[in-house]
Amino acid sequence: MRSLLTCLVTVCVAAACVRGDRYHPADPGSRAAATVVNRAETSANYWAQEAQAAIKARLEHKESVKKARNVVMFLGDGMSVPTLAAARTLLGQRRGETGEEAKMNFEKFPTVGLAKTYCVNAQVPDSACTATAYLCGVKTNSGVIGLNAEVVRGDCEASTDASRHVKSIAEWALDDGRDVGIVTTTRVTHASPAGVFAKVANRSWEFDHSVVLAGFDPDRCPDIAYQLVHKHPGNKFKVILGGGRRNFVPDNVLDDEERYGRRTDNRHLINEWNKDKEDRGVSHKYVWNREQLMSLKEDLPEYILGLLHRTHMRYHMQSNPTRDPTLAEMTEIAIRSLSRNEKGFFLFVEGGRIDHGHHDNFAELALDETLEMDKAVARAAELLSEDDSLIVVTADHAHVMAFNGYSRRGHDILGPSRDLDEDGVPYMTLSYTNGPGFRAHVDGKRPNVTAESNYRDLEWQAHVDVPLDSETHGGDDVAVFARGPHHSMFTGLYEQSQLPHLMAYAACIGPGRHACSGATHVLGQPVLLLALFILLTSQSQERYI
Ligand SMILES: *[C@@H]1O[C@H](CO)[C@@H](O)[C@H](O)[C@H]1NC(C)=O
Ligand SMILES: *[C@@H]1O[C@H](CO)[C@@H](O)[C@H](O)[C@H]1NC(C)=O
Ligand SMILES: [Zn+2]
Repeated sequence: MRSLLTCLVTVCVAAACVRGDRYHPADPGSRAAATVVNRAETSANYWAQEAQAAIKARLEHKESVKKARNVVMFLGDGMSVPTLAAARTLLGQRRGETGEEAKMNFEKFPTVGLAKTYCVNAQVPDSACTATAYLCGVKTNSGVIGLNAEVVRGDCEASTDASRHVKSIAEWALDDGRDVGIVTTTRVTHASPAGVFAKVANRSWEFDHSVVLAGFDPDRCPDIAYQLVHKHPGNKFKVILGGGRRNFVPDNVLDDEERYGRRTDNRHLINEWNKDKEDRGVSHKYVWNREQLMSLKEDLPEYILGLLHRTHMRYHMQSNPTRDPTLAEMTEIAIRSLSRNEKGFFLFVEGGRIDHGHHDNFAELALDETLEMDKAVARAAELLSEDDSLIVVTADHAHVMAFNGYSRRGHDILGPSRDLDEDGVPYMTLSYTNGPGFRAHVDGKRPNVTAESNYRDLEWQAHVDVPLDSETHGGDDVAVFARGPHHSMFTGLYEQSQLPHLMAYAACIGPGRHACSGATHVLGQPVLLLALFILLTSQSQERYI
């Protein structure tokens, strides 16, 4: 009885009193009469037809059960589920629509699953242990790449034991005679792409001097850039595209953009990469800007190394379009190059700066980077057949951006909620639990951030509750989208470390069970034995069947 009474209270918000229950004010955003936004949606038939069309498409869709010759994995670093909802809304709103109903390209894929992202020693993970999970199929400790959880971050000595090294799906692909490429908007030595090739106890060891600074010998524990150029499997990659040039150049040598490198071992790893390919007598090309990269399209060399920025590549919204290629452009070059191998390929593509946008409380940049990755997915989906190419799109971990308030349909996703706080002060629809952007309260009230002079600039930071230099990752699950052979294997809720096993299953590579060899398992079953019997006898005894 009491709960019933407390349920039906009158909620007063900033002078406007509306009737509702204590948890759900009747229409908190309401300062004007409700208006219909999309007229067609008022009809029940509209929604029934929408659903029926989806059922029809699902029934007509034929899942390929062929071997996945090619596998492309797209990784949206930090692309949490709220990021997907916000990005698709922004996509629609940029087209002048309400937005919520829009779909990114990969959101149209036939299968969606959820992956659990915790690591062996972490409730909320980082990009290193998660990369080891979704590329090597093994969960490990935070900060550790390509090594099992017997190694903790920073333990150089433990990492030298080869029994602790784990292989990535790239190695499984190479073992099968397929080609491998990596494409990222971050430094190519950053944690996510490093998961494709590196075995390193500390993700910070991107160049030799960082190993020295930690008190270790880079000969014993080689840095990530060195491993990419000189060690298996990095030295066999046909395509390497991204940022991070400084980690390949000595600190007393100027790079292509007249900036010094960071290495203290006097190694010029770009020259060494060239030399290695010359020694092997294979065609190869190093490029450092968009123009050079795009010129390769006409006559693709066998090996491409593109280090397109000194550190991470610029955010797409802050890039120089003549100097910086888009993720879609890099993805296309990689696919065209790798497609020359008849046996197929594994390509890793990372939208790496979604994560950085979130960490800095730059929601618009994080969402735009998500949409840029979606364009790269669309390009890959155009270039590769659903029949023989598996495309998987996922994230490594979540972030703490909330999509909150009670705004009405079509409300500007990047603006303040139509709701106000208890003091009548606005708050942002997309806001972070923690991170940079804390503002002290004034007279016991939150300040009005929408009145700030740089409000809504690309690098304007919304209010946060917990002040931190960098917003944190989230511990929630991430979505997995799949298209192509055996895509339905990716449905359900599972450990993130299952992902490479599932991809390898579809591609028939690696140590586990395979879709192709699955035939030997099923053959033992009576129905299939009968079918085989019928097949074998059908030619001679046709009339009896
Ligand atoms: C990882 O390496 C960086 C760079 O050398 C160092 O500052 C940091 O302390 C190391 N982390 C651990 C846990 O050893
Ligand atoms: C907050 O600032 C905006 C923009 O200046 C203004 O329109 C609005 O009235 C302010 N709200 C409050 C409660 O101060
Ligand atoms: Zn991060």
